[in-house]
Amino acid sequence: MEKLIDALITHGYYVWDDFLDPKSVAQLREAIPSQWKQARIGRNEDLVKATKIRSDKIQWIKRDKEVAVDHYLDLMEEIRLSVNRYLYLGLFEYEAHFAKYEPGDFYQKHLDSFQGQENRKLTTVFYMNEHWSEGDGGELLVYDLDDQLLEKVPPVSGRLVVFLSEMFPHEVLTSHINRYSIAGWFRINGVRDNLLDISK
Ligand code: OGA
Ligand code: MN
Repeated sequence: MEKLIDALITHGYYVWDDFLDPKSVAQLREAIPSQWKQARIGRNEDLVKATKIRSDKIQWIKRDKEVAVDHYLDLMEEIRLSVNRYLYLGLFEYEAHFAKYEPGDFYQKHLDSFQGQENRKLTTVFYMNEHWSEGDGGELLVYDLDDQLLEKVPPVSGRLVVFLSEMFPHEVLTSHINRYSIAGWFRINGVRDNLLDISK
């Protein structure tokens, strides 16, 4: 956890290898859903348009269904508390989905949060691809706000990537295998949005 906090303070992102041991990853993999929905981008956007930007399928995560998933959410809660203690981000809640990229699927370069529009502050992506090897594709490319490539991250099993949502444009290269991950976001409390609603 110390390394994560240090890296977030210094660089704004961290690649945490072996975040989970192989047995825990295997248990989490057991909880991978069999039902999927085509991923969307905003709330009301056209699905055809969306699939040109991202072609993965997702399933939102709920608590109290699978022990392994609850354990994962508990770990995210530990991260939330530590980050709040040392970075004062005021992270309030966590939302996450399983994602499946089938061969040919990708996600073009994007930011997870847009100023004034969203309240996602910190992104997590956890990978569950046991036999990933060079040539399987699906790497995560992380850029800075000047579009300089910072990292090419293979989606190997047990690895957790954490980054400030507003600071790092990123993309998922075309996968050539079935690529499984859990993407999640810590949000701040949407107090401002609520106030705006009241004033309408
Ligand atoms: C996302 C995302 C990255 C990945 O779902 O917003 O950028 O490596 N995922 O799966
Ligand atoms: Mn993203």
